[in-house]
Amino acid sequence: MTLITMDQAKEYVGQEISIGAWVTNKRSSGKIAFLQLRDGAHYFQGIVLKNDVGEELFDVAKSLTQETSLIVKGIIQEDTRSKLGYELLVTGIEVVGESHDYPITPKEHGTDFLMDHRHLWLRSSRQHAIMKIRNEIIRATYEFFNQEGFIKVDPPILTGSAPEGTTELFHTKYFDEEAYLSQSGQLYMEAAAMAFGKVFSFGPTFRAEKSKTRRHLIEFWMMEPEMAFMHQDQSLEVQEKYVAYLVQSVLDNCDIYLDTLERDKELLKKYTQLPYDRISYDDAVALLNANGFDDIVWGDDFGSPHETFIANQSDRPVFILNYPKAIKPFYMKEHPDRPEVVLCADMIAPEGYGEIIGGSEREVDYQRLSEQIEKFGLSKEDYSWYLDLRKYGSVPHSGFGLGLERMVTWISGTEHIRESIPFPRLLNRIYP
Ligand code: 4AD
Ligand code: MG
Repeated sequence: MTLITMDQAKEYVGQEISIGAWVTNKRSSGKIAFLQLRDGAHYFQGIVLKNDVGEELFDVAKSLTQETSLIVKGIIQEDTRSKLGYELLVTGIEVVGESHDYPITPKEHGTDFLMDHRHLWLRSSRQHAIMKIRNEIIRATYEFFNQEGFIKVDPPILTGSAPEGTTELFHTKYFDEEAYLSQSGQLYMEAAAMAFGKVFSFGPTFRAEKSKTRRHLIEFWMMEPEMAFMHQDQSLEVQEKYVAYLVQSVLDNCDIYLDTLERDKELLKKYTQLPYDRISYDDAVALLNANGFDDIVWGDDFGSPHETFIANQSDRPVFILNYPKAIKPFYMKEHPDRPEVVLCADMIAPEGYGEIIGGSEREVDYQRLSEQIEKFGLSKEDYSWYLDLRKYGSVPHSGFGLGLERMVTWISGTEHIRESIPFPRLLNRIYP
């Protein structure tokens, strides 16, 4: 017997089919039982009519407990009242695996309890919706970059390089050598761009950050495009086009999940309109100072209240351009007329979701880059391969990194980044 899932419901209206499912809830009154079911693809209702199925099957239906797994047979019917648009008129039930005392009941649970039960919490319709949106963003990323002529290149996870500073590294032994888990694939992607022109990566990255905020994960996934013969202003155009493409793809393909999350779709539609505003770091500092933020002086990095204030000047994401050199990584290209700033930008999401992209043009001057490497306390020997890229046919190039979970959190309108990854690694949490 072939099982179908409810995402095929449209093709089977009026037909009797079988579905592998779990019971999420049920209620019954007299001669009718309503089973709330999920089959992995969707959450839907099964209706059991005592007069149709007989006493025995009706009693089975009434006795089903939460998260019991079953093969349920029935006829697909259109149902305009449900979000999905279809329901199942049940004709048979075969219990596959019993479930007793399922810990996550329909009542409210505290965050710690849910996090301890993340392996089960994933089954909820809310988590399902977030993971579907995550999946759509990943799918649309491959589609976008392939359409734009990029190829996917996979940088290593075990590495000796530390592009984003040496204080937040996860150290590990690599036989007799010291190694780290990758913070960013960027340096390798620069090598790949010199080989293949336009490249992107998508993979896990690790930061031993001691920050416990709603935006930080210890392990997160990043998309990192890198482009040869590309200046920073052109890179910004790729970035906004990419982000708008992701938002549009979610609007097109995740409507039902956005509804589950009660996400404001009119807001999302605005985020597909280009271009996004650009503001220089200098102007951002002046704007903050003029609006009562006395805690910021030129040279400081922005905190989330500052980013939020700047982002609130627009109804779409905003780029903050050209930060002070001293607060950015060693590889960023110095501004040709202003050595105190670099050619970079952070893209700040609206609604207080903070930085979703960090990117820059890369320093190509051999001398300046090797000085920077020394200044940042890195070993010139370890980075000699990276310096090689500036020796053999170096070209202007730029790239950026988009944090997948930041993007998912923003698009799904989720409060905390921990729900945007199946099994979050957080400060003091590596379980389950
Ligand atoms: O700004 P970041 O540190 O930039 C880089 O790593 C560059 N090497 C990227 C590049 O140019 N190829 O990180 C990029 C993005 C941030 O904008 C943010 O979205 C996300 O990665 N990110 C995090 N997401 C979750 N938890 C954390 N701890 C994150 N740190 C950065
Ligand atoms: Mg950054």
